[in-house]
Amino acid sequence: MRSATGSTPPVRVAMLGCGTVGTQVERLIREQSADLTARVGAPVELTGIAVRRPHRHRDVPEELLTTDAEALVTSDVDVVVEVIGGIEPARSLLLTALAAGKSVVTANKALLAEHGPELYEAADASGADLYFEASVAGAIPLLRPLRESLAGDRVNRVMGIVNGTTNYVLSAMDATGAAYGETLEEAGRLGYAEADPTADVDGFDAAAKAAILASLAFHTRVPAGAVHREGISRVTAADIAAARGMGRVVKLLAICDRVVDEAGGESVSVRVHPAMIPRGHPLATVGGAFNAVFVEAEAAGQLMFYGQGAGGAQTASAVLGDLVAVARNRVAGGRSPRESAYADLPVRPMGQVATRYHISLDVADRTGVLAQVAAVFAENDVSIATVTQRGHRDEASLVIATHLASEDALRGTVEKIAALSAVREVVSVMRVEGEEP
Ligand SMILES: NC(=O)c1ccc[n+]([C@@H]2O[C@H](COP(=O)([O-])OP(=O)(O)OC[C@H]3O[C@@H](n4cnc5c(N)ncnc54)[C@H](OP(=O)(O)O)[C@@H]3O)[C@@H](O)[C@H]2O)c1
Repeated sequence: MRSATGSTPPVRVAMLGCGTVGTQVERLIREQSADLTARVGAPVELTGIAVRRPHRHRDVPEELLTTDAEALVTSDVDVVVEVIGGIEPARSLLLTALAAGKSVVTANKALLAEHGPELYEAADASGADLYFEASVAGAIPLLRPLRESLAGDRVNRVMGIVNGTTNYVLSAMDATGAAYGETLEEAGRLGYAEADPTADVDGFDAAAKAAILASLAFHTRVPAGAVHREGISRVTAADIAAARGMGRVVKLLAICDRVVDEAGGESVSVRVHPAMIPRGHPLATVGGAFNAVFVEAEAAGQLMFYGQGAGGAQTASAVLGDLVAVARNRVAGGRSPRESAYADLPVRPMGQVATRYHISLDVADRTGVLAQVAAVFAENDVSIATVTQRGHRDEASLVIATHLASEDALRGTVEKIAALSAVREVVSVMRVEGEEP
C-alpha cells in the first residue's frame, strides 16, 4: 500500500497500559524509530497510550496519554498493543479492536489461556493478526518457533520452567536448605516475588502458559482449566534434601505430552507440578528467575529454548518482535498463520496419566516392614524400581522409586502406605521426570 506521493504511510499503533512492560515498549519504539521504519518498510507511529493514572507517567510525552482506552482502540489505528494484563477490560478492548480489523499484539497469558478461542475467532472474522509471543517465557522466542518453524514437524513433548518466581524460590531452597516460607519471604524482599505471590506459587501462571504451549504444540484447544495444577507451597526442605541426596533437583515443571494409547488413540496430557529431575538434565541448571523450555519433535529431535522469562525490557523485546511482524503484514498486505486447532485431541484426566514417584518413608525398624510396604505396591499394580533401606531403630527409613504407573494407582498406593502402622511418617513424595522410565 503506497501513498500518492510514493512514501508508505505510517503504521499507527495504540498501546493499552504503560507499566513495567509498556514503558519499555514506548522507549524502544521511540529509540529505534529509524531501524523499525527500515525493517517494517514504513514508519511505526505510536499514536496514544491508555493508562489509569496519567500523572504517574512523567517519562512519556503527555500528549500520548489518555484514560479513555475504548476511544483509543476505536480511533484511526492499525495495531493495538495490549500490556494491561488481567481479563477485563483487556478482553473487551481487544475484541473491539479485532472486530474493527485492527491487528493485536498482547503479552497477556491469562487472557490467551482463558479466552484464546474467542480472540482467534474475532481475528479470523475480520482478517486481523493476533500475536502473543510475550505471553509465555518473556524474551524467549518460543511461540513462533512452535507455531511456524515446527509447523511441518510433529511435537511430542514440551516441558519447561516457565515461572521465574517459583524457580527462584526452589533454586534458593536447594542452595540454602531453608524452608519454603522463609525463602518466599526473602524472594519478596529481593523483588523476585509479588506482594501477592498466589498466581505464581500456586501454579496459575505456569498453568496458563502450559495451556498456550499445549494448544500450539498439539493443534488442539487446551483451556487453562484443563491443566492439572499443583504449586510449590507444599515442597518441603525434606523434599529438596531427598532430591539432593540422589543427585536430583526439584523444579516446578510445565509438562505437555502427546499420549498414544495401545490402540493408537491419541490424547494430550497437560500438567504443572513440582518434580525431581537429574542434576545432569539441561533444565536442572536453569537457576534463579530464568526460564527454559525443552521441546521434543519427531524429526527435529530435542530443542531447548532458554533466556529471561520476565522483566520490562526483555518482555518488550518480544512485544516489539510481534509489532514488527504485524506491521510488515499491514504494509505487505499479508496475514499471520491462523489458529490451528484441527487435531482437536482430548485432554487426558490426570488420574490416567503415567508418572513415576519417589517416596521417602520413616518406618519402624522391625522385621517385615519392607514386605508389608512391597505388598501394598503389588496390590495397586505399581512396580518398584529401587528400594533403599537405611538406619536402625528411630532412624530407619525406606526410599522407594517406582516405575511408570497411572497417577491414580500411585496416589492410592501412597494413601495406603501412610495408613500402615509400621510407617511413622511419609517424609516426601515427589514425581520424577527427565529420566528414562
Ligand atoms: N512484567 C513482566 O515481566 C511480564 C513478563 C511477561 C508478560 N507480562 C505481561 O505483560 C502485561 C503487563 O504487565 P506489566 O508487568 O507491565 O503490568 P503493570 O506494570 O502492572 O502495568 C499495567 C499497566 O496497565 C495500566 N492499566 C491497568 N488497568 C487499566 C485500565 N483499566 N485502563 C487502562 N490502563 C490500565 C496501568 O496503568 P497505571 O500505570 O496508570 O495504573 C499500567 O500502566 C501482563 O499481561 C503481564 O502478564 C509481564
